[in-house]
Amino acid sequence: MKKRLLTGLQSSGTLHIGNYFGALKPFTDIYEEYDSYLMVADYHALTSLRDKEEMQKNIYNVVRDYLAVGVNPEKAVIFRQSDNQDHMELAWVFNCLVTVPFLQQAHAYKDKVAKGLEANAGLFTYPMLQAADIALYNIDVVPVGEDQRQHLEYSREAIGKFNRAFGEVLVEPTEMIIEGVGIVTGTDGEKMSKSKGNTIPLFGTKDEIEKAVMSTVTDSEGDVPENVYAIHKLLKNEAELSSIYESNKGRYGDLKKILVEDLEAFVAPMREKRESISDEQVRDVLREGAEKAKVTSNETLQKVRSAIGIAL
Ligand code: ADP
Ligand code: TRP
Repeated sequence: MKKRLLTGLQSSGTLHIGNYFGALKPFTDIYEEYDSYLMVADYHALTSLRDKEEMQKNIYNVVRDYLAVGVNPEKAVIFRQSDNQDHMELAWVFNCLVTVPFLQQAHAYKDKVAKGLEANAGLFTYPMLQAADIALYNIDVVPVGEDQRQHLEYSREAIGKFNRAFGEVLVEPTEMIIEGVGIVTGTDGEKMSKSKGNTIPLFGTKDEIEKAVMSTVTDSEGDVPENVYAIHKLLKNEAELSSIYESNKGRYGDLKKILVEDLEAFVAPMREKRESISDEQVRDVLREGAEKAKVTSNETLQKVRSAIGIAL
């Protein structure tokens, strides 16, 4: 029997190459070997988004993104969190199992509070909705970027607590963090993140890619601009790179231009595919995905309801 895999992306912005190498590529490389689920975490996005047009646009965009990077909707269940109420119900069950001090230790929440920002209750219980996303589909493996490691620990904790309290009903998942591309660095050398404005857009035009690459901070001493190399390493192997960097020693501007060309060659086919996908196609994929997703999640939730004593 195939193992089961799920990953989710929040529909809260434009994808960057950190998302691609940290989450999408590892997924597309392996998803056909598993029973795979690909979820649009739109209710998670609501913890930080209060704009109707933006929310809708982002949902379409995320699905387009998945299809453009090569996910075949016949071979993975592509669905939306908000299309399946089972997520809300199981999240509530988990909320009743974990403690407030435990949730207070979660990075996403702690960081926001440390910055003096208002944290809504949705952000506080965010990890329990994520645990539900995973547990509903009996997921074994969750490919994510390094920054999601703690969320997976939280999922396991919630699921483990459920099983200890009510019997072995739910499957404990493992995160899959791909070596070497766990954290993709941005144009400032820090972790690439949309909130930091240091991204290279995945589906950007050549001009946008160029603008991002040319702004890459190169304050490193010596022949190799570290931040440029770090991104280049994602596209070419070390042998290819060493000849490029050897023949352009110290010429940071030229090396950046080569990186722009390599990124453009890599991105162009995906960008074209993306532009050809209609809104209607997206809605069809999501409708079919929700139907398939519910078959499995309804079954799991039924077991959960029986186990906790509310199935009369
Ligand atoms: P962002 O940090 O830009 O807000 P998200 O939090 O939406 O990105 O992350 C979406 C997915 O992409 C997650 O699985 C996350 O781990 C992965 N990811 C995001 N940024 C990076 C990065 N710089 N390197 C590797 N993976 C990343
Ligand atoms: N929290 C994840 C992120 O911000 C998105 C997500 C929601 C997710 N549910 C998930 C990832 C379930 C993996 C599995 O990137």
